[in-house]
Amino acid sequence: MNHAKRVNQHLDKVLSNQGSLTEAMRYSVLSGGKRFRATLTYTVAQTFDANLDLADGCACAVELIHAYSLIHDDLPAMDDDDIRHNQPACHKQFGEAQAILAGDGLQALAFEVLASDTQLSAQTRINTLQALTHASFEMAQGQSIDLGVASKIIDVDTLRDVHQKKTGALLGCAVKLGALVSESCNEQDILALERFAKNIGLAYQIQDDVLDVLTPEEILGKKQNSDADKNKPTYPALLGLERSKSEFERLYQQAFNDLDVLSVDTTQLRGLTLRLQGRKF
Ligand code: IPE
Ligand code: IPE
Ligand code: MG
Ligand code: MG
Ligand code: MG
Repeated sequence: MNHAKRVNQHLDKVLSNQGSLTEAMRYSVLSGGKRFRATLTYTVAQTFDANLDLADGCACAVELIHAYSLIHDDLPAMDDDDIRHNQPACHKQFGEAQAILAGDGLQALAFEVLASDTQLSAQTRINTLQALTHASFEMAQGQSIDLGVASKIIDVDTLRDVHQKKTGALLGCAVKLGALVSESCNEQDILALERFAKNIGLAYQIQDDVLDVLTPEEILGKKQNSDADKNKPTYPALLGLERSKSEFERLYQQAFNDLDVLSVDTTQLRGLTLRLQGRKF
């Protein structure tokens, strides 16, 4: 079974009974999404020969945090976007208050899924929770700066920091969770994976900025030119499209180089990196 399908099955189960928030939470989480974060967690675990059952909770949790971040990101007080995954954004469907609460609920649920994952040792549970809470907080910080700098002139170093926080942190966490459930992942592997994650994390958001300019709504599943409409400082706005593309290609190349030093066969991680690099939406 592919990783997206696998996490979807687990998400479906995890979201079966959230009381009054069930409908809004399911609506946003199960409406699509490429599941690259879950796939990163599973692929790292597979790379180190871990039992994938041990990665299910982590894969769900990271996608739940991601889904919450998207619901809040689309709110009128944030990016004010009406379409996500080719359907009305959560707040358009359920109203702002319920969308805020669905996001809150998803965040809490993510931590509950990890905390109650009895397949993991108590220490691994603490380690995965610590990684996810840290990344979740960094994401919120990145979002805060992202909104604070709209319509402002900032330099590329500041923008890189925003991108690393709002998007890189959670993608990096997805990689780290895969490592944390893998007994055979050694210290040196972890350091190499951290460099790999940092490169793909930044590349992924630069790509998102480029796709926002180039890709029509039907393919993107969300509004085109959302960033320009809000005067967001983005890589294309600061560097132009061509330099932005070269920058994310350079970062993916770096990520491939980072994989060279792993102590295990990296074929699957290379395949996944190629998929990330070639994504069209
Ligand atoms: C969109 O992420 C927002 C970013 C952090 C770049 P994705 O493009 O990975 O979102 P889905 O889950 O596949 O829709
Ligand atoms: C979102 O960045 C980052 C998040 C943490 C959700 P964007 O605002 O560019 O994401 P999209 O383009 O709306 O998916
Ligand atoms: Mg945003
Ligand atoms: Mg947005
Ligand atoms: Mg975007």
